[in-house]
Amino acid sequence: MTALNINARIAVIGAGAMGAGIAQVAAQAGHPVLLLDNRPGAAAQAIDGIDRQLGKRVEKGKLSDQARMATVARLRAVDNIEALSDCALIIEAIVENLEVKRALFRQLESLCSADCILASNTSSLSITSIAAQLDHPQRLLGLHFFNPAPVMALVEIVSGLASAPALAECLYDTAKAWGKKPVHTRSTPGFIVNRVARPFYAENLRLLQEGAADSPTLDALMRDAGGFAMGAFELTDLIGHDVNYAVTCSVFDAYYGDTRFLPSLIQKELVDAGRLGRKSGQGFYDYCESVTRAQPTEISSHTIVDTCVVEGDLGAANALQARLREHDIEVIQRDGQGLLRVGDAVLALSDGRMACQRAREDGLDNLILLDLALDYRQASRIAISCCADIHPAALEHGVALLQRAGFSVSQLSDSPALAVLRTVAMLANEAADAVLQGVASAADVDLAMRAGVNYPLGPLAWADSIGLAHILSVLENLQAGYGEERYRPSLLLRRRVAEGRTFHD
Ligand SMILES: NC(=O)c1ccc[n+]([C@@H]2O[C@H](COP(=O)([O-])OP(=O)(O)OC[C@H]3O[C@@H](n4cnc5c(N)ncnc54)[C@H](O)[C@@H]3O)[C@@H](O)[C@H]2O)c1
Repeated sequence: MTALNINARIAVIGAGAMGAGIAQVAAQAGHPVLLLDNRPGAAAQAIDGIDRQLGKRVEKGKLSDQARMATVARLRAVDNIEALSDCALIIEAIVENLEVKRALFRQLESLCSADCILASNTSSLSITSIAAQLDHPQRLLGLHFFNPAPVMALVEIVSGLASAPALAECLYDTAKAWGKKPVHTRSTPGFIVNRVARPFYAENLRLLQEGAADSPTLDALMRDAGGFAMGAFELTDLIGHDVNYAVTCSVFDAYYGDTRFLPSLIQKELVDAGRLGRKSGQGFYDYCESVTRAQPTEISSHTIVDTCVVEGDLGAANALQARLREHDIEVIQRDGQGLLRVGDAVLALSDGRMACQRAREDGLDNLILLDLALDYRQASRIAISCCADIHPAALEHGVALLQRAGFSVSQLSDSPALAVLRTVAMLANEAADAVLQGVASAADVDLAMRAGVNYPLGPLAWADSIGLAHILSVLENLQAGYGEERYRPSLLLRRRVAEGRTFHD
């Protein structure tokens, strides 16, 4: 089955933030679109809103006035559900309530033709469950757009237990024809994005709770070393803590309390205090105009270094060698176990053990652990951690080397797997479990995380590039360090390491 014909009539029910955006997308793609809302006047207002939005794009020269008029002419507000009887696809974007959605679809089934596809934009309800009371549950699927729908490329095509595969293909092709990036997913809690993204928030919240660093420092590390568009604290301030916390709680409950999804007391306290983020003027940050934003904490050194020794290969951090040379630092190469020596300091990429533990176990004095960077040649910041008893001169040497190579250096307390490495390992672990459990393919999980939440790399491709054996060690060490199931490595990760394959082989 291919995409719906451009002349096929589409209906959107619910003219709120999502419904209006979805109606705009379908109309811009060329379909006649009917918009229905049970609040009198809401659908017409939404169409006026779309007209205004498109008008702004015309003013900026991004859209022709002809295209604006043609799009708006394809949109029609209707005030009774019977008007939707000859639609080829009806997309529901009403209130997030199972019983209300079920009742709406039952009503739709009684008035629409047998080949009309029914779709829900739900973000948290089960498609299987919404469809359960229909006479033809095979015709109902999830069509999960992201906010704002006209801007965000990702659409999750969600199949419930009964959904017809041919209809999932039709919606996939249709979303593609609308200029979107669709992915297939099974109806499981959080689908792909709202599940796989949870560790991004959870691990940063835990690092904050454990005093590894403050929120400006952790945010700066996610951006400047991890390559994420925003750190977890500024992002949750933007999303709203009430919304983000509710999604976490719903995923946690849906997975029967799996501690990987454990909600954070720090976030709950913000919700309890009404500090919901930007929309309430305060969250992790204060949005009063008079308040200057706290800056990340950095450590600096006045020592001058111009030479270092690399023993073996630094693993995922190996590109650091080229960066050091670019900054006129002599790099002497020797055989060894992946260590970088400068003065009395020994630097190494974290393997998930705390510095104090690794120093003792591996007999390394003055050990400084390095965090992960998306690109060690480009990153402007790097996190380090070390034992409390490191010799001050050794710390000076290590920091001086990184500074000379152009990094801002943020020191974390001695935390297992530091910040970026821990976050990426846990994102990849969750992504691996989603693939293992048949929720989506590795390619679709990665695409979803890039297109849905703008990650710089898909978590599985990222893990592949770091090396799966290293990711496995990091998780095993986190699990041993914390003694918690939360960090258990996915069976798929273990299998790929044992097979000597990557996630994308
Ligand atoms: N807001 C988001 O970021 C987002 C993202 C993805 C998916 N979703 C999902 O999309 C759906 C809508 O979310 P929203 O943020 O647009 O909500 P919203 O509150 O902005 O809009 C909902 C609209 O539906 C109307 N409505 C409610 N019950 C109705 C009914 N029985 N019949 C007709 N109209 C009805 C309301 O009047 C309102 O205009 C929810 O299922 C939500 O989970 C939301």
